[in-house]
Amino acid sequence: MASETATEAARSPGISYQQLLDTDTRPVPEVLRWQSERELPAVRVPIERYTSRAWHDLEVERLWKKTWQFACREEEIPEVGDRTVYEIADLSVLIVRAGASEIRAYPNACLHRGRALCDGPGRAAEIRCPFHGWTWDLDGQLKRIPARWDFPHVERERTRLPELRVGRWGGFVFVNFDPGAPPLAAHLGELPRHFERWPLERRYKEAHVAKRLPCNWKVAQEAFMEAYHVVATHPQMLPGIGDANSQYDAWDSFSRAITPNMTPSPHLGWEPSEQDMLDSMFTRSVDAEPLLRVPEGMTARQLLAQVSRMQLQASVPSVQDLSDAELADSFYYTVFPNFHPWGAYNRIVYRFRPAGNDPDHSIMEVIYLAPFRGRRPPPAPVHWLGDDEDWTQAPELGFLARVFNQDTANLGRVQRGLHAAQHAHVTFGRYQETKLRHFHALLERMLAA
Ligand code: FES
Ligand SMILES: [Fe+2]
Repeated sequence: MASETATEAARSPGISYQQLLDTDTRPVPEVLRWQSERELPAVRVPIERYTSRAWHDLEVERLWKKTWQFACREEEIPEVGDRTVYEIADLSVLIVRAGASEIRAYPNACLHRGRALCDGPGRAAEIRCPFHGWTWDLDGQLKRIPARWDFPHVERERTRLPELRVGRWGGFVFVNFDPGAPPLAAHLGELPRHFERWPLERRYKEAHVAKRLPCNWKVAQEAFMEAYHVVATHPQMLPGIGDANSQYDAWDSFSRAITPNMTPSPHLGWEPSEQDMLDSMFTRSVDAEPLLRVPEGMTARQLLAQVSRMQLQASVPSVQDLSDAELADSFYYTVFPNFHPWGAYNRIVYRFRPAGNDPDHSIMEVIYLAPFRGRRPPPAPVHWLGDDEDWTQAPELGFLARVFNQDTANLGRVQRGLHAAQHAHVTFGRYQETKLRHFHALLERMLAA
């Protein structure tokens, strides 16, 4: 297998992201200057990784039962007794606020005859199984068994709810099924440093939309890890997106793509005006007036940054210090294996999971985390879209819903193509698919363990 350093790989013609940063009207933070140097294998991976039940089963045993995974937001369980359920493959976890600053996680299965202890979000002072009423304290201690005389063989001490590891970062609650796993902080590595300027714990869950997709979870998430697909999938964006000028980096357990906006795509065969660049971002009919006009002497990039500064003024105290880049560009991180928080003030967080034990279906979630001032607004509940509904049926997603429709329109067809394929591998680009190669290198390492 060929291997090379990502930063040494050939790059697209046109302005590099680092050169673009030099044109900023504000000082650019260090985090945007960091670039990785990493040997990445995996330019080809076997198709059966996306289609086979055997590979899925291996992922359950060696990935999902071993890795740290984003389960919920802290703000979803703010009060003692609040609970929610996190599911992955056929595993289910009950997450409970057991004390003011204590969160615990239990396998969501009663120790009597196995009923799920909890069916969804709620609040109660104890954990009571709805079937026969066995009851535990929030800290997992057995409290009560109806007709206690019938269970002399059940010892209180040995009937604690088993626990999963819990970790927290950025307002996110993570769980890990493996008692021997290194702590969450070791898994995240340098990630918290990347987000120092953009504290995600100081955001609230403004929107949360979930949809089942007819493809493997990796097919789904890989569609959101590169800008290479923009030229064919989102051609309307080309006047104002530096798709091929994106920068890709990979560190230990996470990777990052930066796609500049309000700079023309190298794929475009003509030179767009500043107004063309701006217009490409918004959907409108050709004869309608533009939503915004780029004033003389200003670039679309500067205008977009200025408008974002105005919008964020009320909720982000440091907004005047933020660079144009932080307000205009897309910073999409992937924390292995399936957690995708966006940097700066772009609001997006994605999560992708297998749907049950079906390698041909997955769940995609789009979460918007917005800054706020004063009292934290209540978190949006999960809005599940039906199989026949598209993303525009979630108006809370705004203009991006149409973009998501373009993305997900490919995915069932990818899965179908992978099943139909008479060749053995998918092939990744050396640079633009850096994040996919990094992911597969980590996946291979986990599954070989
Ligand atoms: S299964 Fe839970 S109390 Fe019987
Ligand atoms: Fe896309």
